[in-house]
Amino acid sequence: MTYWTHEYLLRTWGGPMIQAEFLRDLSKPFFVPRVFSGFNLFLETPQLMPDAVDLVARESTKKKAFIVTDDYAVRFAPKIQSPYEKRHGFKFALWDKAKPDAPIDTVEDCAEKMRAFGPDLIFALGGGSAMDTAKAAWLYYEHPDVNFETLSPLVPLNLRNKAKLVAIPTTSGTGSEVSGIAVISYPDGVKIPMGGALPEFVPDFALLDPTFTVGMPPELTAGTGGDALTHAVDAFMAPKCDELNQAIALKAIEMIFEWLPRAYQDGDDMMPRMKMQQAAMMAGIPLSNGGSGISHALGHTIGGLFHIHHGMMVLLFLPYELQVYSKTTDRYLKLCDLLGVRDKESDEKSLVGLVEKLRTLMKTINAPVSLADAGVSRDDFDKNMEYILSQTPTDPAFYFGWFDLTREQLHDVFINAYTGDLLDMNSEIWR
Ligand SMILES: [Fe+2]
Repeated sequence: MTYWTHEYLLRTWGGPMIQAEFLRDLSKPFFVPRVFSGFNLFLETPQLMPDAVDLVARESTKKKAFIVTDDYAVRFAPKIQSPYEKRHGFKFALWDKAKPDAPIDTVEDCAEKMRAFGPDLIFALGGGSAMDTAKAAWLYYEHPDVNFETLSPLVPLNLRNKAKLVAIPTTSGTGSEVSGIAVISYPDGVKIPMGGALPEFVPDFALLDPTFTVGMPPELTAGTGGDALTHAVDAFMAPKCDELNQAIALKAIEMIFEWLPRAYQDGDDMMPRMKMQQAAMMAGIPLSNGGSGISHALGHTIGGLFHIHHGMMVLLFLPYELQVYSKTTDRYLKLCDLLGVRDKESDEKSLVGLVEKLRTLMKTINAPVSLADAGVSRDDFDKNMEYILSQTPTDPAFYFGWFDLTREQLHDVFINAYTGDLLDMNSEIWR
């Protein structure tokens, strides 16, 4: 199948054009939903002042809402429905069949049910896959003839003619609750990001209730937290990331280093849960407005091929991204300052210190630092190398980076990532 991500012109011209300094400085749009964070977002009784329930309900004239969720997060649905039913007379329909990676057939099924009910408000309740399923089904609901595979990011989606979107995350990682991106998957294993030049997929509201993330097991806390950290670093290092987005990314990185180990150690401790939920949301903002990085492209390929958690995979490639990008930008030094590992004498030592700091955090949350650690067999890895090297450059996170890595450079990253060794940036390949 041919997807828009394989489009030659987009790859060769679209990426460089978007990154071009003279173009990106012409205007700097910044898209975010209205965000509510805290413990009182679903109150059953009216308050003195309009609260989150009133402000969301105000967006709906039909008072018909559709919840998109999965078989885990569906347990939170009654808490969401109740205040809207009692205080604003809403009717609800619920679809709870969202699956990991948002497979296209589940998106179609969800959209069909949505169409039958005809809501003007959609609640996306769950982790990234549930929220991405809701976004894609929403597009399908608004435009039944849409072709997801070939939908170019340069074409407006024309959403919000039928409904608006409210995102309610139950994990702390993907940032989908604030981002203008939805990633869906196809039976051949390819994951297709959908967005649009105008990020219309940015939800109208993001409602962050930390109690919804309390049941997450430690591995999921680590994986989603690793994803959030990678979003913040990827975005901070991305060419298109301006000062506004950099500021948010830096604060998110600081918060994740402080709170992720505590959220991992004690999943019932509410403060780390709340801080991680906020940090993951914050990391999603520069990701959506400022861009991603090669760790996501590399992680998508390996994670998709060997079925390893997205967050664990992208995090594993983060040290390599820092090394590779250090060729073209010194932004990594700001991260060294933030995390207290800057060596005043040597930028090279600063970078080593940064990677060590990162890997210490990874070990604290039992995240693999090499593909061998992650359980990838050497045989399978070598056998699939040709596919790995050809698939990775088709990922948008790859061609919106600072520069296109050569096949030889890409090979060097993957080979080292297998053992966990760092790149030799003084070698011929990287000069
Ligand atoms: Fe991610």
